[in-house]
Amino acid sequence: MKKIGFLYTRLRAEEKYLLEELEKRPNVELVRVKDDGQFFDISRIPEPVDVLFERSVSYSRGLYISKIYEANGVKVVNSTQVAERCGDKYVTSQILVQNGIPTPKVLMAFDEESALAAVDAMGYPCVLKPVVGSWGRLLAKVENRYDAESFIEHKAALGVNHQVFYIQEYVDKPGRDIRAFVVGEEPIAAIYRSSENWITNTARGGVATNCPLTPELSDICRRTAQAIGGGLLAIDVFETESGLSVNEVNHTMEFRNSITTTGVNIPALMVDYVIASAKDEG
Ligand SMILES: Nc1ncnc2c1ncn2[C@@H]1O[C@H](COP(=O)(O)OP(=O)(O)O)[C@@H](O)[C@H]1O
Ligand SMILES: [Mg+2]
Repeated sequence: MKKIGFLYTRLRAEEKYLLEELEKRPNVELVRVKDDGQFFDISRIPEPVDVLFERSVSYSRGLYISKIYEANGVKVVNSTQVAERCGDKYVTSQILVQNGIPTPKVLMAFDEESALAAVDAMGYPCVLKPVVGSWGRLLAKVENRYDAESFIEHKAALGVNHQVFYIQEYVDKPGRDIRAFVVGEEPIAAIYRSSENWITNTARGGVATNCPLTPELSDICRRTAQAIGGGLLAIDVFETESGLSVNEVNHTMEFRNSITTTGVNIPALMVDYVIASAKDEG
C-alpha cells in the first residue's frame, strides 16, 4: 500500500483528472492536503505519506509546504529544487544558458535607469516579464523607447517584487509555439498553441493542436529536463530560423486541452510516475 499525499488549492480540471486516475489504482491510499484553511508545524507533517504530489495553484504555497514535507523526510513531486528552478524565470534561463541549451537572450536590471539601458541594448521589440508568474500575466512587449519608459515606470511603481527587471529577446514566432510534456526525462506528448496574440497561452485563448515529437524536439526536451532535474515538466519551446529554443519550463503542468488533442493519457502517465516515486515499504 502506498500513501500518496495530494497537495492542492482547488480542484481544477487537471486535479480532477489526476484524482480520478489515482482513485483507480489498486494499493494507493489518497491523503488530500489543502494548501489553505490550515497551518503547518514545521517540525512534523500532519499525516505521514510516502510521497507528496504537489498541485498547488500558488507557487509560494506549493513551495513552502513542499519544503516542510521534504524537511520531514517525504519525497515531493516535483521536488522543491525543480520547483525553484522552474518557478523563477531568471533561474530557468540561467540554467538553460549554463547548459548550452538554445534559449532567447536575457538581460537583468535592478533599477529603472539600468532597465531602460538594458532594453535599448536588447533592441526593439523585446519582452519584459515578472520573474515569477504564469498564464501570460503582466508580460509586456516593448516596441519602442516610449513603451519602455512607460512600462518600466509602471512596473517600478508596482513595488517590491517588480524592482527586478527580466528583459528577454522577442522571438518572431510563426503564429504559434510548442508546449511539450515531459515525465521523468522523457517527452510524452506536445501541442502547438496557435494565436493571433503574441501571447499564446491556452488560458488566454491560444488554440491547441497536436505537435509531433520530432527527434529535434525530443532531444531539446530531454536536455532541458536533465538540466532542470527531471520530474513532471511542461516545456515552452519556440520555433526559430536557427532551430528550436526553450522559453521557459513549468513545474505544475496544465494539460486539460492536451489529452484528446494528443491522444496521450497525460494524467495516467503522471500518476504512474508519482506512484513509482513513492518510497516502497513493501
Ligand atoms: N520572448 C518572447 N518572444 C515571443 N513570444 C513570447 C516571448 N516570451 C513569451 N512569449 C509568448 O508569451 C507566452 C507566455 O510567456 P511565458 O514566458 O511562457 O510566461 P508564462 O509563465 O506566463 O506562461 C509564451 O507562451 C509565448 O507565446
Ligand atoms: Mg509559459
